[in-house]
Amino acid sequence: MKRLAFILPALLLASCDSAPQATFADASITLPDDPLDLPDLPGRDAVIGNCTACHSPSTMLQQPKVSREKWEKQVAKMIEIYKAPVDPAAIPQIVDYMVAVQAEQAAAEQGNVSRETSGQAGPKGGLEGV
Ligand code: HEC
Repeated sequence: MKRLAFILPALLLASCDSAPQATFADASITLPDDPLDLPDLPGRDAVIGNCTACHSPSTMLQQPKVSREKWEKQVAKMIEIYKAPVDPAAIPQIVDYMVAVQAEQAAAEQGNVSRETSGQAGPKGGLEGV
């Protein structure tokens, strides 16, 4: 009996010793797939040079499809409201690029968009109010 009285606490201690041990193996962080990469289309360099300093490309890529005029206004908004230092000569390239990217996105979506989502315009706000 004396022996058991010794072993039990020893076992308990042993299990306590291993259970709460803090290893940080689970703390490694997998970064999300953001920023999305900008598709390789003409004007990409202009966008990288002028538009990705303040937000990730996904801010531009995950937008409802809008017209060229709205993209022009969007760039103007970045310059006027957020004081984006955009090279005026790059603006047409940026607008062309965004229009081309959205056309490509729309083409890619056709065929793999389910009926539930096909009527939706994407995230609300942002560009729609421009
Ligand atoms: C000086 C910083 C800055 C630069 C440079 C900049 N933006 Fe923005 N942009 C912002 C801020 C601030 C917001 C609003 C907050 C957010 O979504 O991060 C924003 C939001 C946006 C949005 C989301 C819709 C909206 O209006 O909120 C789009 C699209 C966008 N920017 C496009 C562009 C494009 C294209 C360029 C390059 C011409 C650009 N941005 C350069 C600061 C900037």
